[in-house]
Amino acid sequence: EQAEIGLIGLGVMGSNLALNIAEKGNKIAVFNRTPEATRKFYAEAGELAGQIIPCETLEEFVAAIRPPRPIIIMIKAGDPVDQQMKLLEPYLSSGDIMIDAGNANFRDTIRRFDTLKDSPLTFIGMGVSGGEEGARHGPSIMVGGTEDSWKRVEKVLTSISAKFNGEPCVAWLGNDGAGHFVKTIHNGIEYADMQMIAEIYGILRDGLKLSAPEISKVFGRWNEGRLNSYLIEITEKVLAANDPISGKPMVDVILDAAGQKGTGKWSVIEAQNLGVAATGIEAAVAGRVLSSQKEERVAAEKIFGLPQTVAMPGTDGLSFLDDLENALLAAKIAAYAQGFAVMAAASKEYGWNLPMPTIAKIWRAGCIIRSQFLDEITSAFTKDPDVANLIVTPAFAQLVQETDGALRRVVSTAVMSGLPVPALASALSYFDTYRRGRGTANLIQAQRDFFGAHGFDRVDGVDKHHGPWGSGLNA
Ligand code: 6PG
Repeated sequence: EQAEIGLIGLGVMGSNLALNIAEKGNKIAVFNRTPEATRKFYAEAGELAGQIIPCETLEEFVAAIRPPRPIIIMIKAGDPVDQQMKLLEPYLSSGDIMIDAGNANFRDTIRRFDTLKDSPLTFIGMGVSGGEEGARHGPSIMVGGTEDSWKRVEKVLTSISAKFNGEPCVAWLGNDGAGHFVKTIHNGIEYADMQMIAEIYGILRDGLKLSAPEISKVFGRWNEGRLNSYLIEITEKVLAANDPISGKPMVDVILDAAGQKGTGKWSVIEAQNLGVAATGIEAAVAGRVLSSQKEERVAAEKIFGLPQTVAMPGTDGLSFLDDLENALLAAKIAAYAQGFAVMAAASKEYGWNLPMPTIAKIWRAGCIIRSQFLDEITSAFTKDPDVANLIVTPAFAQLVQETDGALRRVVSTAVMSGLPVPALASALSYFDTYRRGRGTANLIQAQRDFFGAHGFDRVDGVDKHHGPWGSGLNA
């Protein structure tokens, strides 16, 4: 019996995905560049081995799959994918589908898709979220490619995807780079979400002087409320863990310098290219950059010292904690609204027709940003798929109204205490800018006209587009 699907790349993600595919009753052929990894994988597959065809040559691998062959490539993003595709192509035949399941840049995905467009082969760019656990037991899967190629893989992918109330967290989102673009924005939102949580943690640790186990309890409580989500849940767990070496809370011995592999940065770059303000994601990426400049920060602290923290309102009771909870929710709304706005703009620019309610739906389970909150976003976009901004949907407008006072109090308290809250503050300023009909760009327009005769529009519609700055413009 031939395999339903093939998979190349038995690293952590690839192995887990392959086991998931096998476990859901799909026969799968696997291949790895180094055959030792394939043998080891097969030897450790246990009772799933019967569903797995281990292959040591590409020729053998391709022959083991039922045509038209869907072949998942799960290797390091970038050049290795192009190289792998080149090696594979000579063995493929008409209708075969190469599926890049890594964290690819959607521009590479479009290029790869276009290269194969006039050939008998096709290409799918597939975003997979959920880390190792997700890959093994149910990820969220974002598919981009032709509808025909999607139909060939729909059954297998549906069987392995996460389920939210029984609904599979996988969907075909559009042509060529759509799936990888949506995955990139997922990661951008993930960055913002994590940064905002870390800022709140900073206020609890350095403002309220709570210990890691105490902060863990706070997040544990929040996880039962409106913030309920995977990231809050793991934050509770992470903060509760102790270092086996020093016996101290694990987080207290981890260096405060965060890494990044590029998807957050790409979200920001693409948002800028599309002319969409994604300030929460920008703040998160900048936060990681500054975090990694550890030595410079330590040196600067020696020069400037740290500001005195002001009294945190309500330290004695629960109210400041309530404020922190609501502030996080309000800020989160801004980040998600921005992420969806970037996707809406990209959808137009690239002609993808991205289904916003579906995207929110398939993020409800399996992926890193999975949460209750995404179910609410699903409802909001289902009622109004073309709304300009999530914030102005009735449900979220109400939520913002309920929580933005808390965000304002938390941000001002943090600012007065010298506690950095770039993402929370950006969210607040985003609301404050977005909901103010008359802004201050009239001054910028006047300045631009003064020094560069750029011209401006008038509020009264009068047809005069330059100011009385004098005849020589620099006068
Ligand atoms: C996921 C994650 C995963 C990873 C990102 C971000 O959805 O499962 O987003 O893909 O976390 O690549 O990684 P960095 O934080 O290293 O950039």
